[in-house]
Amino acid sequence: MEIHEALYTTRMMRRLRPDPVPLDVQARILDAAVRAPNGGNTQRWHFVAVDDPQLIHEFGELFREARGLEYEKFRTGQGPMVVPGPGADLTAHAETMRRIKGSGNYLADHFDEVPLLLFVFSIDDLGGANIYPAIWSALLAARAEGVGGVMTMVLNNFRDKVNEMLGVPVEEGWKMSAMLTLGYPLGKWGVAANRRPVHEVSSRNGWGKPFGVEVPQPLWPTPEPADLAAAG
Ligand SMILES: Cc1cc2nc3c(=O)[nH]c(=O)nc-3n(C[C@H](O)[C@H](O)[C@H](O)COP(=O)(O)O)c2cc1C
Repeated sequence: MEIHEALYTTRMMRRLRPDPVPLDVQARILDAAVRAPNGGNTQRWHFVAVDDPQLIHEFGELFREARGLEYEKFRTGQGPMVVPGPGADLTAHAETMRRIKGSGNYLADHFDEVPLLLFVFSIDDLGGANIYPAIWSALLAARAEGVGGVMTMVLNNFRDKVNEMLGVPVEEGWKMSAMLTLGYPLGKWGVAANRRPVHEVSSRNGWGKPFGVEVPQPLWPTPEPADLAAAG
């Protein structure tokens, strides 16, 4: 797959088919992930693949409960999902949240059908910086295989329980950084177009100064000359 296709279309896919993800595909996903940059090349990461239906069922129960807690935080104006970045359109954010909730409900309701969970653990992930390159590489590599999924954090509400269920050696310093649900998507991949354009979120030679070029449309797959307009 051409790299730009992967970069532009690796959307979070919450509606998955139950078909298993073959082991060789899983190997290619993780083999790409471990090539990711990481501080000092210390590679303090560990991936736990879960495909046991009973365990997936148990994580589903936990996931629904954790999600309930997150949406309760959201309802009371707390948590990371409440406010978009300064200057963002609040109506658009509300619509995004409505959509995420809709597809999230589907995932929660069909959790037992998810063929593969990938728990990502790290030691001292530097606020995520030391592990997200590997997670994103895994998602891009999965995309190249036609496998989709979503990175979730909600199980952090039940860290201890997850550690116990997976037998994580917490005394060595391991902490869950994310849990990915993975499988072959029911829907079609499309460009992540619901993003604020580059010129609204970038500056040059000082915060808030014009970046110098306007990008009103995604530049992939077929940029028109008018899509990349030099700002006057
Ligand atoms: C740190 C992080 C945590 C996330 N946590 C969740 C989550 O718990 N549940 C979920 O459904 N999506 C989660 N997502 C996915 C985002 O909701 C998604 O990337 C965003 O809505 C954009 O969707 P798109 O890439 O499909 O356009 C998370 C993404 C990141 C980067």
